[in-house]
Amino acid sequence: MRIGVPRETVPGERRVALVPETVQKLVKAGNEVVVERGAGTEAAFVDSAYEQAGARIVDDAYDAELVVKVQRPTTDEIGKLRPGQILIAFVQSLIDPRYAHTLAEKGVTALSMDAIPRITRAQPLDALSSQATVAGYKAVLLAAAQLPRFFPMLTTAAGTIAPAKALVIGAGVAGLQAIATARRLGAVVEAFDTRPVVKEQVQSLGAKFLEIDLGESGAGAGGYAKELSEEAHRKEVELLAKAARENDIIITTAAIPGRKAPVLITREMVPTMRPGSVIVDLAAETGGNCELTEPGKTVVASGVTIIGTLNLPSTMPYHSSQMYSRNIASLLALFLKDGKATLDMTDEVIKGTVITQDGKVVHEATQKALAPAGATA
Ligand code: NAI
Repeated sequence: MRIGVPRETVPGERRVALVPETVQKLVKAGNEVVVERGAGTEAAFVDSAYEQAGARIVDDAYDAELVVKVQRPTTDEIGKLRPGQILIAFVQSLIDPRYAHTLAEKGVTALSMDAIPRITRAQPLDALSSQATVAGYKAVLLAAAQLPRFFPMLTTAAGTIAPAKALVIGAGVAGLQAIATARRLGAVVEAFDTRPVVKEQVQSLGAKFLEIDLGESGAGAGGYAKELSEEAHRKEVELLAKAARENDIIITTAAIPGRKAPVLITREMVPTMRPGSVIVDLAAETGGNCELTEPGKTVVASGVTIIGTLNLPSTMPYHSSQMYSRNIASLLALFLKDGKATLDMTDEVIKGTVITQDGKVVHEATQKALAPAGATA
């Protein structure tokens, strides 16, 4: 099987889909890997490292049977795809089902890294988790770089310095990593999530779990969160209004799959925070958990810095690419045998990940998303 690794072209995207470590394994297993010149350079993987791993450096990595990418192909890149090719990328077919329709029309078999079912067996493939780990870590570093205070408590000749206080909202993969990182830096951390099951995980990282009776649980299907009722949302916002006044840093990660992020830090709360405080809004991609977040920008309001940087994984491209590449290797191990691709649609992981096949959108959730428009291929 010839596997192609194109250079990412979306502005600001510095990751690469396969790193030399994975290339070496794929070549050893009898595959041919072609890597577009400079594809890994921004992630600190130079062409010569790919060559040493057994890849061939080429000008056009779309001339392959299987194309692996981070970002889904742009309109120009779709033009380079051929019928019968397999594509692996973050296709985001639930956010944009029409896009899946376009790939189906093109005759491409697309597997989406954002559709990997969240079951125990699929954890090594879970690219949303690996990239959320990077985002949670980096969010805290951005806050630390901006905060006019130390994170840790220090005892110095100039007296004792009090530790910074951090609040993490949403304790999923990114939130838990943010808690761990803020703790490692020495901050006093508290966290809140509408799913009470995460309380123990929060506490095991040395943070306090904020407790409140919302009158309902935020736990929905498959371990994900569901939207709260208006009354429960109001109670949560009240709790967070008090916590906002007491913390120097707020990292927000609250997300509901397929929905706009809930607004949890209102515009009225921001001026009540201490001057110099920092909010890092990881939900900026879906509108933001803070009402004043401007996605892709850093703004200052009432002395509080609100960071809405998008695509944080791309700001740490070496490790985010390495983890993504390992996720892809685990996915390939499921369907690539002796250089041949066999997509076993009775396998829950494959079935959940394949978006298009044989000119059709075959992914059930994407079909449903397309249905109102009557556009299923
Ligand atoms: P996510 O990125 O979808 O959401 C982040 C967090 O925000 C979630 O913990 C959610 O409960 C919380 N949240 C939503 N609305 C909120 C609100 N109004 N206030 C406060 N918090 C709110 O979450 P992520 O990281 O994708 O994880 C979601 C679940 O999936 C977790 O239970 C996790 O353990 C599970 N999971 C399972 C995997 C597997 O088995 N392969 C892999 C990764 C996650």
